[in-house]
Amino acid sequence: MSSTSRDGFTNKFGVIAAAAGSAVGLGNIWRFPYVAGENGGGAFLLVYLLFILIIGLPVMLSELLIGRKAQKNVFGAFRTLAPDKPIFISVGIMGVGAAFMILAFYAVVAGWTLEYAYLAVGNQLKGMDAAELSTFFNDFSSSTTGPLIWMAVFMVLTAGIVIGGVKNGIEKYTKVLMPLLLVIIIILCINALSLDGAEAGVAFLFKPDFSKVTGGVILEALGQAFFSLSIGMGVIATYGSYIQKKENLMFTALSVSFADTLIAVLAGVAIFPAVFAFGIDPSSGPGLVFETLPNVFNQMRGGYVFSIAFFLLLVIAALTSSVSLLEVVVAYFTEELKMKRKSATWLAGGSIAVLAVFCVISDGVFEFFDWTSSNILLPLGGILIAIFVGWVLGKQKMREELEAHGGKVILVGFLNIILKVFAPLAIGFVFLRGLGLL
Ligand code: PHE
Repeated sequence: MSSTSRDGFTNKFGVIAAAAGSAVGLGNIWRFPYVAGENGGGAFLLVYLLFILIIGLPVMLSELLIGRKAQKNVFGAFRTLAPDKPIFISVGIMGVGAAFMILAFYAVVAGWTLEYAYLAVGNQLKGMDAAELSTFFNDFSSSTTGPLIWMAVFMVLTAGIVIGGVKNGIEKYTKVLMPLLLVIIIILCINALSLDGAEAGVAFLFKPDFSKVTGGVILEALGQAFFSLSIGMGVIATYGSYIQKKENLMFTALSVSFADTLIAVLAGVAIFPAVFAFGIDPSSGPGLVFETLPNVFNQMRGGYVFSIAFFLLLVIAALTSSVSLLEVVVAYFTEELKMKRKSATWLAGGSIAVLAVFCVISDGVFEFFDWTSSNILLPLGGILIAIFVGWVLGKQKMREELEAHGGKVILVGFLNIILKVFAPLAIGFVFLRGLGLL
């Protein structure tokens, strides 16, 4: 146990809401559809689901276990658990690096959602057709002032929540708002399926065309699985360190992965029928959701209200994820560099905002941060985390921590083999193959 009294989550629902709050975000609703759209749809979805199950889930469990066992930030955790194996400190270094990169472009996209929430309130997209909406998005996202201001607003909101700490900041907000988002997405799905020409979108998402599967597509699916689950960089380990011993980590990992995957698939169902019904190109990239959904709201009964609710909830989903990203850096600054929570938050948030400025100005920087963090840093972190739990901690310690709540956990031996052998080899193979090195 830790010697100082650490902040922490109060109960099971709080833990799941916060971890699911981190996992569910723009990754599900903005990134999943656009990456799936660029990588052929159905076959991508299938590979993605497979990776969630056989790699994502075990790695998520590993992170929870590492964090809770060590009761430390991601750097401190590896140092405490394996003081004689400094190589694993690199997970901490890459994790903090990844947090900077991800939050930098994430805050820009979150800024777009703020702009769209604002436009929705003023009903300003009303009456635009698909072509006009697409031009509108392109003009807005390639301008500077608007995106910069909204990005800054979003970073201030994120920092404001993180300063509040775990219980009074993160947990309080996520508990209430995430279930609401689910309801809105389900309504959007029903509406999307009733559009003329919806079948083409459903087929695109659910009928795998294996001729589309290349090494690059598989790596994108792996990267998306890591990104969406918030794993491979210490976010889940950091949250794990705030979880009490009485909680069942297996249950936490299963619920969070399930919720995350459900929302991504539902987002696909809400978006692809509309993409085809309105003649939008599924591979149009990061603008996909912003160009597609306003069409839906424009023709939908009650579209005005739904568009406001949807974009506001998307902002909130983004916030509960960005908060977890900033928390990784802040936990490191406060515990390792002994900074005060407040100054640590402003310093980290401020420097990330500076990086975000470059993402606003340059598409190249934006895409570099987006692609590299998911497809390089997170999988590399994932390999090290799996090896750490599989080999360094080993089966016995895994079992101890997984059963610390006093119950029995099945399949620990099987999980240990997955972490020791299967996950590192599979991630390594997909990684090298995707980069064309194998
Ligand atoms: N999982 C978050 C989302 O889907 C993004 C994220 C990635 C958060 C990595 C933390 C760590 O929006």
